[in-house]
Amino acid sequence: MKQKIVSGMRPTGKLHFGHYLGVIQNWVKLQDEFDCNYFVADWHALTTKYDNTSELRQNVIDVVADWLACGIDPEKSTIYVQSLIPEIAELNVYLSMTTPQNWVERDPTLKDMAKIMDLKGNDSQVSHGLLGYPVLMSADIMMLNAHYVPVGIDQVAHIEITRDIARRFNNIYKTDFFVEPQPKLTEIPLLCGLDGNKMGKSFNNDIKISDTEEVTTKKIMRGITDRSRIKKDDIGHPDLCEVIYKYWKIFGSEEQIADVKCKCEAGTRGCADCKRWLASVINEKFKPIREKREYYANNVEEVERIIKDGSDKVRAQAAENMKKIRKIIKMY
Ligand code: TRP
Ligand code: SF4
Repeated sequence: MKQKIVSGMRPTGKLHFGHYLGVIQNWVKLQDEFDCNYFVADWHALTTKYDNTSELRQNVIDVVADWLACGIDPEKSTIYVQSLIPEIAELNVYLSMTTPQNWVERDPTLKDMAKIMDLKGNDSQVSHGLLGYPVLMSADIMMLNAHYVPVGIDQVAHIEITRDIARRFNNIYKTDFFVEPQPKLTEIPLLCGLDGNKMGKSFNNDIKISDTEEVTTKKIMRGITDRSRIKKDDIGHPDLCEVIYKYWKIFGSEEQIADVKCKCEAGTRGCADCKRWLASVINEKFKPIREKREYYANNVEEVERIIKDGSDKVRAQAAENMKKIRKIIKMY
């Protein structure tokens, strides 16, 4: 029997290249070797955006359409939505009882999220739900007893808490029912945004998987290069080229990278030409993905059906596990 994988993403809307390289590509690779279960964490979206739900459903669809376009195959992997599995909420209740308060208060990611909420001028306090973020995440993972959780580096602290929560539950109820799940990281270096900062939707420095070729090119033309290079025949320094050369190293072939470096250092290719070429390489690479993305945008009912089928399947497993868990705790 294949080992189980569970991972999720919050429905932040259309996904960007950072998601693709950091997480989705990894998910795609794991599909043959593992029993993969990928879900949209719409409850987790509410931990910070409970007062702004008008786009939530559309965002769920957009995220799943992006996954499908990138090669998550519903024949191999199970795709579902968190809120369609009420058993996860029930498990969350039980885990909330066994998790010490200071474990959630120590969560480093919580501090970042609280900061982001502050920045956005959200006048509310950190909610009970946001404090419980890592417990709900543990319920997601433990609901299916996953062995591995493929995530970006920013989520590893959460998975550590999940391991602790699983171990503590097992100790308290003298059981070995829950697996202690392990994070599974990608080796791909983090892709920075076009301004050199962390890539993110809210920083307006990302390239979306679903962007058109024109938009992609326009965005890349704004990317930061070697700031000391002013005239186009100035000698350049690829290693000081803060964004564009880094992108080349991720998206270019070996020959292309060598050519870019050589012409840059010799001052024989200007940055504008270098960027235009990069844009065409990237657009070429994403062409098939974008065509598929377009297909799903025009066939939303197919996306909805995939979500429903996957959620039904997960719900059956979750219900079965939940029966066992109740029995372990000696509940009804
Ligand atoms: N916290 C994750 C993120 O922000 C999303 C998530 C929720 C998740 N539950 C999970 C990831 C369980 C992996 C496993 O991206
Ligand atoms: Fe960067 Fe290319 Fe300009 Fe060199 S030529 S500084 S690699 S954008």
